[in-house]
Amino acid sequence: MRNFAYESDSDESSTGSADTTPSRDWETPLDSFDTLVVLSNRQPYRHTRDADGSLAVDRPTGGLTAALDPVCQRAGGTWIAWGDGDGDRQVVDENDRVDVPPTDPSYTLERVWIDDDLADTYYSGYSNRLLWPICHGAVDEAKIRPGDYDGYRRVNERFAERVVPHVSGESLIWVQDYHFALVPAMIRERVPPSTTIGQFWHVPWPKPETFSRVPQARALLDGLLGADVLSFHVRRFADRFLTCVEYFLDDASVDWDASVVSYDGSDTQVVAVPLGIDADEHARRSQNLDDGVYETLSAELSIPDGTLLGLGVDRLDYAKGIEERLEAIETLFERRPRWRESVTFVQTTTPSRTDIPAYAAYGKRVRRVVDRVNERFGTDSWQPIVYTESYLTRDQLTALYRNADCLLVTSLADGMNLVSKEFVAASVDETGVLCLSDQTGAHDALGDVANTIDPTDRESVWRTIDDALRMPVREQRVRMRTLRARTAERSLSWWMSTLFETFAAATPDRSISPQGYPTDGT
Ligand code: G6P
Repeated sequence: MRNFAYESDSDESSTGSADTTPSRDWETPLDSFDTLVVLSNRQPYRHTRDADGSLAVDRPTGGLTAALDPVCQRAGGTWIAWGDGDGDRQVVDENDRVDVPPTDPSYTLERVWIDDDLADTYYSGYSNRLLWPICHGAVDEAKIRPGDYDGYRRVNERFAERVVPHVSGESLIWVQDYHFALVPAMIRERVPPSTTIGQFWHVPWPKPETFSRVPQARALLDGLLGADVLSFHVRRFADRFLTCVEYFLDDASVDWDASVVSYDGSDTQVVAVPLGIDADEHARRSQNLDDGVYETLSAELSIPDGTLLGLGVDRLDYAKGIEERLEAIETLFERRPRWRESVTFVQTTTPSRTDIPAYAAYGKRVRRVVDRVNERFGTDSWQPIVYTESYLTRDQLTALYRNADCLLVTSLADGMNLVSKEFVAASVDETGVLCLSDQTGAHDALGDVANTIDPTDRESVWRTIDDALRMPVREQRVRMRTLRARTAERSLSWWMSTLFETFAAATPDRSISPQGYPTDGT
């Protein structure tokens, strides 16, 4: 596998923009492996059919796909993911493969088909009605339905089988996220012992008392421990995982100093490597942005001139604390009437997982709060909250970041939150205030310079926003410089090189396999 230079249009938040600008060169030690196979639920490119029958390509929302796409563009290899677009079958070959990116192909996307009934159990059921709320501590949202686990297991099995034809003893298989907890152990049974298996868990890992609500807790841990390297964004998630291993698996041993679990004859290195963004690329885009982009957008969205701008950018998900944030804004206008007609809050959201009742209900609640606040405080010439679910291009989002006086991130739980980093990177004039929930992975590195929000304390949320709006520019600059330096240092390229070095170091020495036979060809 060749070394590669890195570029990104990291895009966790809400826009699926495909307008990528090449970034600086960057080398990473991928040459320890001869093939890269990535597995994720969400695909990086989706083909859809327009009303007139023509095909279109979009890029599904999510930091995971946006971060990994440039890696695969440089490294080549195969990305295996669910083909959920209604035009996906039209473009694949007899092996369900299509070369991507569509405009300049550099790697292979292999699509796995999941019919509606199976998707209901695996994706809308076990993954997003049970694991997502459990991992985000939303126990009231966690639902256990008969058949969901069986669907999850079957899809995990299907993905594991699809990996096998691609793999040699020098391959790196990189499994993504909570949709595939069983996959590492399933793959381990099917591939040469020297194949490296990595897993990145992009969401928080729950506390043992929360995790114990999952009936298959042991099976999930057993599955994940098939990986050679299991990574989380931050140490506290990794430590919670190790605690769960000790709690649930009697026959596993945890070396806390080395952060290694020994289980079933092999070791899993558990690491914390926070996902970053290509800060240079975001800064450059912001620097080069035409003023007209914001002027047009603010006219379209009716953002008034001359008021301060508060911004929220989220997937429409209860874990993001959007409803709580809007209620805090309502309290702010109640308690501090001076802000009426002086600050406008723009909230952009991308509807998500709408088949799941909790998400549909959440969307309704959020829109209701927006209407209420606007009704209570709006005037003929000013709406306190400008709310949009429309698609925004990368340039439009950058224009919002640049013009925002503060960004509000109030997640109740969040693996990382790349929006906060994008805001910081786009704030090239070094002003603007980051109000950041202490429940995000991003807070671990940025919390001491950001304005910390405790999303569980309603009083503190509106007070933090009030403070942010009053912060002198000089203080904004001091904080923003540090935030920008840290974001640039722990960039996406740093994330990739750190992880790939960890994979290379953990490449299994399995000259004697667990089955006891020599595997070095002798
Ligand atoms: C989070 C998850 C990703 C997921 C993304 C979007 O970031 O960690 O795995 O792809 O949300 O959610 P969706 O269900 O639409 O893929």
